[in-house]
Amino acid sequence: MTTTDRRRALGGILYGADYNPEQWPEEVWPEDVRLMREAGVTCVSLGIFSWSKLQPSEDRYDFTWLDRIIDLLHDGGIGVNLATATASIPPWLSAKYPEVLAADADGSTYWPGSRQHQAPSSPIFREHAAKLVTQLAERYASHPAVVMWHVGNEYGCHLSLDYSDAARDAFRGWLEKRYGTIDKLNRAWGTSFWSQRYGSFGEVFPPRKAPYSHNPSMTLDFQRFSSDMLLECYLAEREILLAAGATQPITTNFMGPHKPTNYHQWAEHMDVIADDLYPDPASPTRVADAALNRDLMRSLKPGTPWILMEQATNAVNWRPSNPSKLPGQLAAESAQSVARGADGIMFFQWRQSKAGSEKFHAAMVPHAGLETRAWRETVELGATLAGLGELPPPGRDARVALVLDWENWWAIEQSDHPTTFDHLEALRVWYRELHRRGIMVDIIPPERVDEHYQLVLAPQLYLLRESGAAALKDFVEQGGTLLVGAFSDIVDEFDHFRDGGFYTQLGDLLGIRFEDFTVLSLSPGPGVTSVGFDGAVAGNGSILAESVDATTAEILSRFADGPAAGRPALTQRDTGRGSAFWFVSIPDEEAVRSVVEHVVAAADVAPVVADLPQDVEAARRGSMVTVINHGYVPASLSIQGTDLLTGEILTEFTLDAQEFRFINMDKNN
Ligand code: GLA
Repeated sequence: MTTTDRRRALGGILYGADYNPEQWPEEVWPEDVRLMREAGVTCVSLGIFSWSKLQPSEDRYDFTWLDRIIDLLHDGGIGVNLATATASIPPWLSAKYPEVLAADADGSTYWPGSRQHQAPSSPIFREHAAKLVTQLAERYASHPAVVMWHVGNEYGCHLSLDYSDAARDAFRGWLEKRYGTIDKLNRAWGTSFWSQRYGSFGEVFPPRKAPYSHNPSMTLDFQRFSSDMLLECYLAEREILLAAGATQPITTNFMGPHKPTNYHQWAEHMDVIADDLYPDPASPTRVADAALNRDLMRSLKPGTPWILMEQATNAVNWRPSNPSKLPGQLAAESAQSVARGADGIMFFQWRQSKAGSEKFHAAMVPHAGLETRAWRETVELGATLAGLGELPPPGRDARVALVLDWENWWAIEQSDHPTTFDHLEALRVWYRELHRRGIMVDIIPPERVDEHYQLVLAPQLYLLRESGAAALKDFVEQGGTLLVGAFSDIVDEFDHFRDGGFYTQLGDLLGIRFEDFTVLSLSPGPGVTSVGFDGAVAGNGSILAESVDATTAEILSRFADGPAAGRPALTQRDTGRGSAFWFVSIPDEEAVRSVVEHVVAAADVAPVVADLPQDVEAARRGSMVTVINHGYVPASLSIQGTDLLTGEILTEFTLDAQEFRFINMDKNN
C-alpha cells in the first residue's frame, strides 16, 4: 500500500481531539463518547502519554483499559488515531536505566517529573520503545477503530538538542557514516583553525560547554544530527507498525516552522502531514503568521490535504500570559486551516485536565461543563465542518514561493556573524505583505523552485547549496522573477565561504558585485541606526547596509543616507525571459511593502481576491475560495460564486467580524 493509498483511507474532514481517558474514572467514558457524538467528533488521538499506564513495569503490560476504551469509541462510531505512546518515558525506565536520560550542554541531566526527558539516541530508550510499539502494533493493527497512527508526539518540542553520552556515541557514528574518513571531517569542519584537528572519530564530542564559540561547521552538523536522531526514532516505530501489517496512515504532529527539525526531510516519511498550531490571541501578526504555518504544511506535500492535529478551543497555559480567543475566533482560525489545505481540525484536548501542568489549558469540554462558550462553539464548528462534504484537494494554487531552508536557518543564526539574525521573522515580514494582498504563497526549499511559480522570494539565503542555486538560476532562465534579499549566497553546506567571496553563485544572475557589510549601530546614541532609500523604495532598513556595485543590473533605488549612501539598494537584471532582483538591509514594513509592490507587478502575480478590505483574508484551494473576516467590524466583498455551506449564490455580501465563507468558484456548479 502506497503512502497515497494509506492517506486516502482517511476520507472526509476529521474532527476531534487528543483524548486522555486515563485521567478520568471509567464511569466518565460512556458520557465522553456520547458528548463526542453530540459535538460531531469523528476521531480522537489516544494514548499519547500513556506509556506508564500501558507498561507499569518492565515485565508487565496492561492493555485491558485501552481495549475497553477503543471498543467503546468504536461502538460510538468514533475513529482512533492511536499513539505509539513513546512521547515520554515511564519513571521505572529511567530509574533502572539512568543512561536513557538526556543532558544539556553543561552535562546536567534532564530528570523525570515533566515529559520528553529521554535521550533520542539512547539505544536503551529505543529498545524499550520498540518493545512497546511492537505490542501495540500487533494488538491493534487490524482493529477496525484505528484509522491512523500517531507516532511519538511533537518530536523535539522541549528537547531537541541532547548532549548526553548516548548522543556523544551516536554523533560519532553519524559523522563516520557521513564523512567516511576523519580527514574528510577535518576538511569539512576546517579544523586547521584553533588546533582542532581530530585523529579519529572517537576524539569528537557534541558541542558541549566550551570556553568560547564552537566550530560552526561542527554545530551545523550537530543540528543535522539532532534532527536525524529524532527522525530515526519516528522511522523505527513506523517500520514496526508496517511490519505488523498496519495499513492506516502513519504520521506525527509537526509544529509549524520548528527550527530543530528539518521537516523538508521528514515530510516524505509521513503518510499525511499533521500540524499543531496555537496562534497567540495577543499577537498583532497572529493571522498572517498562522497562515504562513498552514501554507508550510500544505507545501510539504503538494496536492495533499493535511491535518490540523492540535489547536486550543480557547486559552492555553504555557505563555507567560494567556489571553482568551474572541467569540467566533475559534471557527475563523479553523476556517483558515481548511482554506489552506487542511482536511482535519483537531484539538488539544477533549476534556480539560483536573490536575497537572495543563489544568488551565482550554479543552472541548471545559471544567465548567456544557453551559460554556467553548462547548457551544465546539458543537457549532463540528456541524459546520460536517456540512462541508468533500473538498477539492489543495492544488498548486500558489504562484509565489517564499524560500525556507532548514540548513540555512541553522547556519544563519549561528554566532560570530556580522550581526545576529532572526531568520523566521525575516521571512515573516515578506510573507505578511503577500498575505495582506491576498496572494497565495508556497513555503519551499530552493531546490523545489520550478517554472510553475511566477515569483520567488529568497530573503537571507546565507547557506546556498549548488543544487539550490542551480534551481534559482534555472527559474529565472525559464522566465521567472526572483527576489534575493541581503545576506544571501555566502557559504556552502559546510558553512565555508566559497572561493571568491560572496554572491559567487548568484552574482552574475543578479548583476551585482559585493564589497562589504556595514553593521549599523543598534543602540541609540552616536552612529547610524537605520538607513533610508531613494527611488522605487520607501521606508527604512536597519542592522545591515551592504556596499554593492551593480555590474550589469539596473539600479532602481539607492541608499539615501548612512555608510553606503549612493550605493545600490534595489537592483533588477533582466535576462531576456526572466528578471532577478536584489534588495539590501533588514527592511522595515514600509520598505517591504514597496519592494513587494514592485516585484508583484513585474511578475504579474494576481491575488486570490483583489482589493481586500482590512483584516479580511482570502485563500484558494482548488476550485474553492475562502474569505475570512478576522477583524472587529463588518466588511463588504464582491465575489461571484456559490456558498458551499448554504448553497447561496453570491455576488455582493458582507462578512461580520470573525465570519467566513467557503465559496465554490466552479462556474459549472
Ligand atoms: C502540545 C502537545 C500537547 C499539549 C499541548 C498544549 O501541542 O502536543 O500534549 O501539551 O501542546 O498546548
